[in-house]
Amino acid sequence: MSTIVTRREILIERAKTSFRKAFGGEPDLLVAAPGRVNLIGEHTDYNDGFVLPCAIDYETIVAIGASEGTGVRVVAGDYDNASDSFDPSVGFVHQKAEWMNHVRGVVASMMSRGWQVGGVHLAIVGDVPRGAGLSSSASMGVALIKALAEHHGFHRIDATDYALIAQQSENDFVGCACGIMDQLVSARGQSGTVMLLDCRSLETRFVTIPDDLAVMVIHSGIERELVDSAYNERRNQCKLAATHYGVPALRDIDSDRLVRDRGDLDDITYRRARHIVTENARTLAAAGALATNDIATLSVLMKQSHRSMRDDFEITLPPIDSLVKMISNSLGLEGGVRMTGAGFGGCVVALVPLEILEQVTALVESSYQIPDGGKARIIICNPSSGASVL
Ligand code: GLA
Repeated sequence: MSTIVTRREILIERAKTSFRKAFGGEPDLLVAAPGRVNLIGEHTDYNDGFVLPCAIDYETIVAIGASEGTGVRVVAGDYDNASDSFDPSVGFVHQKAEWMNHVRGVVASMMSRGWQVGGVHLAIVGDVPRGAGLSSSASMGVALIKALAEHHGFHRIDATDYALIAQQSENDFVGCACGIMDQLVSARGQSGTVMLLDCRSLETRFVTIPDDLAVMVIHSGIERELVDSAYNERRNQCKLAATHYGVPALRDIDSDRLVRDRGDLDDITYRRARHIVTENARTLAAAGALATNDIATLSVLMKQSHRSMRDDFEITLPPIDSLVKMISNSLGLEGGVRMTGAGFGGCVVALVPLEILEQVTALVESSYQIPDGGKARIIICNPSSGASVL
């Protein structure tokens, strides 16, 4: 009899082992929250627009148990069981290690909303590739918040709150000005679907991914550099453009208005705005195309999205453009491909018909070279459900 051990089972074992070693007992509860990949709708979330991500079966698992006193003690299984402790009733001091700031950030954000957190032991492990643009930090934030909420019996905190608190932690404590997409799909994703999210109302519509399509993620091997400063620059340019058009966010204008009221808006800011306006329209159209299994239309929309990120938003890099082109040529209109995430490195996402999955995999393996050497990592993702108690 063969026993297949899943990646989740391995993570659970690692979380329990880290917990036992650090705190000498069993955790009371285990919580998981997934990373994500975005099919289309890039940089639209902080413009109050639309995104179409799915949660993936790469995740963070948090083991939690009670401790004496008011302190939080935490061990990070992925960092050689490095540990940290702080007392939320005393305050929050920033640390050098980023993972420590994520833990402090979520606790500080929960406390700022009146949720008294403390007296806990935590062990954290995960298998979301880091620095790849698959939202390892959002999955960690959401997993921690759900674990703390469940442990303390804060039943009035719902999945949307997990996302908002995790985003607040990133924005206000960790110092990353991200939008709401990553945290929201990590909290509320549904298995087998992509989530059309209206980032203004936070309303969602789930669209089933056809059975015969695989969600393939190819890590370009280019670590995302300068992403924070370039991200903030794009955010500011979008804000400037919204001010020019006299609207709260670029979500509020369409292509006609973009052209009609351009006035003296400079070329760069105009192109940034054009990416957002056209990307919002593409994202809505892509959700419709997927719902009706119109893969040819989806294919064109993903291609246009990549071009817009390359030419108007200027967040792609030449090796990623070549990788996308190579996969796109192989897929034709049977599937779609584009860069995904914040940009300047990271991953490409492709929807690939199962019957040519091997062929596309072989093509990437044989033809793509990471600029610094080596082969790209290819991940086939199962669109998964959001944060849950295990
Ligand atoms: C990062 C941010 C998200 C979003 C994307 C770009 O992943 O965390 O909020 O802005 O970039 O679409």
